[in-house]
Amino acid sequence: MKKPNRSPSPSRWLAYSILSQWEEKKGFADHLLDENLAGSNLSLRDQRLVQTLVFGCLRHLYLLDFWIDCLAQRGKGSLPAPLLRILRLALYQSAFLDHIPQHAILGESLLLCDCLKLEGLKGLANALIRKFQAHRSDLEARLQDHPQRLSLRTSHPQWLVDWALNRFGPEKGERWLDFNNTIPRVFLKPLVSRIESTASPSPFSQRLVNAALHLLDQIPEASLAPDRSGLFLPAGCQISSLEAIQKGQAYIQDPGASHAVELLDPQPGEKILDLCAAPGGKTLQIADRVAGAADITAVDSQKVRLGLLEQNLKRCGFDNVGVVCRDLLADPFPESFQAHAVLLDAPCTGLGTLRRRVDLRYRLEPTDIPELADKGFQLLTNASRWVMPGGRLVYSTCTLTAEENEQAVRRFLLAHPDAWRLETEIFTPAHLFDKAESAAHELDDSDGSYCARLTRK
Ligand SMILES: C[S@@+](CC[C@H](N)C(=O)[O-])C[C@H]1O[C@@H](n2cnc3c(N)ncnc32)[C@H](O)[C@@H]1O
Repeated sequence: MKKPNRSPSPSRWLAYSILSQWEEKKGFADHLLDENLAGSNLSLRDQRLVQTLVFGCLRHLYLLDFWIDCLAQRGKGSLPAPLLRILRLALYQSAFLDHIPQHAILGESLLLCDCLKLEGLKGLANALIRKFQAHRSDLEARLQDHPQRLSLRTSHPQWLVDWALNRFGPEKGERWLDFNNTIPRVFLKPLVSRIESTASPSPFSQRLVNAALHLLDQIPEASLAPDRSGLFLPAGCQISSLEAIQKGQAYIQDPGASHAVELLDPQPGEKILDLCAAPGGKTLQIADRVAGAADITAVDSQKVRLGLLEQNLKRCGFDNVGVVCRDLLADPFPESFQAHAVLLDAPCTGLGTLRRRVDLRYRLEPTDIPELADKGFQLLTNASRWVMPGGRLVYSTCTLTAEENEQAVRRFLLAHPDAWRLETEIFTPAHLFDKAESAAHELDDSDGSYCARLTRK
């Protein structure tokens, strides 16, 4: 979109532009944000404001539209799309960003109207924004009796609300919906083998804590995770400029994503297959655990994502990991291909990551659950053929549905009753599931995930 001569603050203009591109289905919100910020010369502070505005409007889309629908005399459907976008931005800032004065929000919104040649609608924008600022509590009261109260209040499609209440019960279900609108902290995980100057004989868990403490010396404003396995970075921290990232001594991974490799327990000298591996968070974790001293092959069907995996391996100095582009359903390995340990990080609905992927909830359809559950099962069946007798197979996802998680594993076990044993399952966050055996792995601030360790008899 061409930037007009008279413009509001560059960050609001860019946020408006990204939201337009998102509505025109030009890409996922996080990709659009990255692309647009890369092409801008905004300061870091302004870049953060753009992210806050774009992600905030998308996290609260249904609620903002409900408010606009109540405010506009003939409903939100009567408003042209550019005005609707300006109103979403304004109401989001008014309701959720305390540090921006209300008069500044109004002023910037009217400048956006000017820029977009919406002079004829400026009066309406002015009136609606002022009405919201003066009468917000009345609108909240109107939501109380609405039949789709939860869907609108938490901005989740109704089918997803029904799914959550059914899966977790009314209280935990509502808590989960609210959790998805919280801003996740970024978790920095140390790469032990890149930090230790000489290999230590201590257990890996202890070495991980030492490495995390080493990172904390470098970034004292970060906070150590309760299990001391890594650091939560302070809000607004510029990740790419951290010394530990530049030196390949650390990587970004949600705490919930780390259990799969812990269950896999890769050992030096083993042959290890990392299936559905890109962009490589778990590949780094595996390579680190064995200090690069295992025969690791990372496989994925998507070339672009594998490019990111290769960049990650290079940055962290793991130069002996095999990288294979292969569709594991259409073109599986032969059965003679045998590994000691196989990790399958299956494609899934990603319901455990809705905090981070702010627009995923609007893309998902109820039919995605059975489709991806079946794909997971087919991949699990193929992956199991490449595990040598006595070897282990870890199946993991970043979702919360029974169909894609425990039921896919049960279906696999039923199809192979004598050949496989289920050893352990981990569900995060544990409080959603009442799984006593998962409680020890709980961190209060982790994505949802599932993993199961199976051994071949
Ligand atoms: C959950 S992501 C993997 C995340 C990765 N393990 C990590 O830790 O960074 C799932 C991956 O499965 C891959 N995938 C989906 N279908 C596949 C198939 N038929 N064969 C191989 N890879 C596939 C996708 O390209 C995607 O990268």
